[in-house]
Amino acid sequence: MRVTATAEFMLEPIFDAGAGRDAIGLGQAVGKGLNTRHGTLLTLEDISVSFDGFKALNDLNLYIGVGELRCIIGPNGAGKTTLMDVITGKTRPSHGTAWFGETLDLATMSEVQIAQAGIGRKFQKPTVFEALSVFENLELAQKTDKSVWASLRARLSGEQKDLIDEVLDTIRLTKSVHRPAGLLSHGQKQFLEIGMLLMQDPQLLLLDEPVAGMTDAETEFTAELFKRLAGKHSLMVVEHDMGFVGSIADHVTVLHQGSVLAEGSLEQVQADERVIEVYLGR
Ligand SMILES: Nc1ncnc2c1ncn2[C@@H]1O[C@H](COP(=O)(O)OP(=O)(O)OP(=O)(O)O)[C@@H](O)[C@H]1O
Ligand SMILES: [Mg+2]
Repeated sequence: MRVTATAEFMLEPIFDAGAGRDAIGLGQAVGKGLNTRHGTLLTLEDISVSFDGFKALNDLNLYIGVGELRCIIGPNGAGKTTLMDVITGKTRPSHGTAWFGETLDLATMSEVQIAQAGIGRKFQKPTVFEALSVFENLELAQKTDKSVWASLRARLSGEQKDLIDEVLDTIRLTKSVHRPAGLLSHGQKQFLEIGMLLMQDPQLLLLDEPVAGMTDAETEFTAELFKRLAGKHSLMVVEHDMGFVGSIADHVTVLHQGSVLAEGSLEQVQADERVIEVYLGR
């Protein structure tokens, strides 16, 4: 994790996160607007989700720190995607509490409100507007109350253009700025979608299997990109590709049967007998 020691950051008792909490955040330093005094951006406690009596999540506890890059791994059906559904308000838990910062109770918020509060999600399949250019896709993704057409016709301020340029550079699509998104490679579409999320400047980014279907070079760039985004944003990455997880993770959570089975560095969880048993194999 990147740690930028600002004066503000130094004043915060960031590791005073309370018993049982192990989020490893940067405190108020990058907490923009949200109250994240204890360095914890997301707090999930005793979360359960039942589908017709089947518990997809079972008394799950999870803490994500401000600026943290967390990887979530675990076997198929462990509840990883359901966990993201709960955080984004798509699925409501039957039990438990979910807080964003110290004051936003996700259970009381709609999906739109949760997105506006700063939680961005990337699904596995890219959902860019294929007929529009890379630039237009980013333009549309800006925080605005205007309708789609009003946004496209409106003149961009210098600041908005600067942000688009910055995002283009971050996702390495500057040279493709005028290309229709439909002509991009699968990986480039994924990067564009990440860019569209970045236009909203989310504090928490949820990424479900981001490197599935990518070439080795694209996977490598994704790792580099996520490491760069951490610190400024918190990232929660679900991935089965252990090589990729190894290249980005400082903190890994293993889910199994809807609960946290193990947590720690990748080396720690890889050495855990229970994790080897249910997921990594011998
Ligand atoms: N809407 C639903 N209705 C019924 N069961 C569901 C629903 N969504 C998920 N499940 C079940 O909940 C369990 C957890 O599913 P989930 O998709 O969260 O797993 P996952 O960890 O993301 O798996 P994968 O690695 O395969 O993506 C699975 O057994 C799944 O079949
Ligand atoms: Mg899944």
